[in-house]
Amino acid sequence: MKLCWKDPIAALQVRPVRGGFAAEKRSRVAGKESVGDVLRLAPPPRATADVARAGGTTRPRPTHATRDFRRSLRRAMASEDEFYADIRSADGTYKFLVDGAWRESSSGRTCGSVAPADANAPAYAFQACTQGEVDEAFAAARAAHRQWARTPLHERAALLHEVAAEMRAHHAPMAACLVREIAKPAKDAKTEVIRSADLIDYAAEEGVRALGVGTLLHADSFPGAKRDKMCMVSKVPLGVVLCIPPFNYPVNLAVSKIAPALIAGNAVVIKPPTQGTVAGLHMAECFRRALVTRGAPAGLVNVVTGKGSEIGDYLTSHPGANLISFTGGDTGLSVAKKANMVPIQMELGGKDACLVFPDADVNLAASAVAKGGFSYSGQRCTAVKLVLAFENIADVLVESVSKKIEALKVGRPEDDADITALVSKASADFVQGLVEDAVKKGAVLKQPWRREDNLVWPVLVDHVTDEMRLAWEEPFGPVVPVVRVKTEEEALKFVNESKYGLQGCVFTKNVDDAIRVADLMETGTVQINGPPARGPDHFPFQGVRDSGIGSQGIINSIDTMTKAKSVVINLAKPSYALA
Ligand code: G3H
Repeated sequence: MKLCWKDPIAALQVRPVRGGFAAEKRSRVAGKESVGDVLRLAPPPRATADVARAGGTTRPRPTHATRDFRRSLRRAMASEDEFYADIRSADGTYKFLVDGAWRESSSGRTCGSVAPADANAPAYAFQACTQGEVDEAFAAARAAHRQWARTPLHERAALLHEVAAEMRAHHAPMAACLVREIAKPAKDAKTEVIRSADLIDYAAEEGVRALGVGTLLHADSFPGAKRDKMCMVSKVPLGVVLCIPPFNYPVNLAVSKIAPALIAGNAVVIKPPTQGTVAGLHMAECFRRALVTRGAPAGLVNVVTGKGSEIGDYLTSHPGANLISFTGGDTGLSVAKKANMVPIQMELGGKDACLVFPDADVNLAASAVAKGGFSYSGQRCTAVKLVLAFENIADVLVESVSKKIEALKVGRPEDDADITALVSKASADFVQGLVEDAVKKGAVLKQPWRREDNLVWPVLVDHVTDEMRLAWEEPFGPVVPVVRVKTEEEALKFVNESKYGLQGCVFTKNVDDAIRVADLMETGTVQINGPPARGPDHFPFQGVRDSGIGSQGIINSIDTMTKAKSVVINLAKPSYALA
């Protein structure tokens, strides 16, 4: 295994030698370990020369370089512990953030997240906030917004750049939480944090350009009017944005809401997903520190934690919210129904289909299905969730995808496995139910079904028909159904009769077919010769039907988080400009 010892996340990939993995597990009492503790369990780097000298049987003696390295790693991680020290109580329970202060809840109760890759053993403990504390978060946000909306745009941008720098510099503990709480492969966990820092920087730059200009209208272009009125239109912040990100991107899909909100002059209240809460709290500390450094209002970024069943409805019906930006599952539908004159921006999942024409580049399509269907074990709203293959290409496509599936590594997130444990037992049960239903109705599994706790081995399910749940429901797991179709019309039926309409993709070498089908697919985005994906993060991202409402992507989110304000100058007499 190749190790990069300068990278604490890479260090997590190694099993501890002192007492073995069992000892490591015992030491990770819910919420008690610090990032430094976790990393100190990792063994020293192997010094192969020393091993050879010792006959290859004893542990290598540390060299000066190794000792120096250990010292610097210890120093580095100690400083990470220090950086994030305020977010934990002495007993290791995580706090919530209101008006710049990390606090324990007056409820005296805590909630917890679990470690999906460790048979759902307790992972972290955090505060169960009360409704009163939710009120305080909104009040702090409201006050901060009033001050922030009067802050020059370039200063708002500077704050965001500061946050991005903090996130890059202190990404390791955040990424470690993603590994532990949501079983995200270590490399992807780091990528999520760095991608988020990039998004924040981009939002700052986009905001400076987009919000720095307004519109000027003259009255006389309307029939009957003279040039005696000028209307100046600006984009102004909405106020307080309630941000609810999902478990699969608790950092990235939080900042995709927070950064556009802040650059536009809003304040935010964040409710992190239960699995992913602690990664979200680390992210919030980067914001809090940047607020202090830049002298920005403390209440701009607030985070309340707790069970959705206890504070979820209270949050989403709170009169203090001026926009609800939600990414998640079906819960979003009930939030949308209850939103009372409050604008909403939602992304609620998909059933992204991959239509493969007979002339398609099979290897390209198979790679897209394997990557698009199985990365992060299929727990992406933009995962390929249905393959629609023309009959005369289906056999070769299925074989090609199967080969790629067999190359996938199934295992632990710390080891950077491609397929890791699903987020919960309920998710794995749901996936299993879909597969059982399909098999009962005649579908063929191209790989044997295998499951241990939340870990489901990847499987391609061939000969799926429209009578099977797998043709219509979203597995959110490493299971990809293949429907063999005779005609384009038959394929489009699966896309357009789905309750979802997030993305779709089409594989063909014929540009006319590609464009025609892209136009006919009733989805928010169609990818031609590539798998569905949200990124790059400045691309517009939207769904139709139950996949969501509104559009995201950085500029679209900035637009959504502002409203037009007109100031009309009424002249005593019409005036026509000359130059
Ligand atoms: O899970 C929903 C995400 O928006 C998908 O993002 O395409 O970058 O994985 P992604």
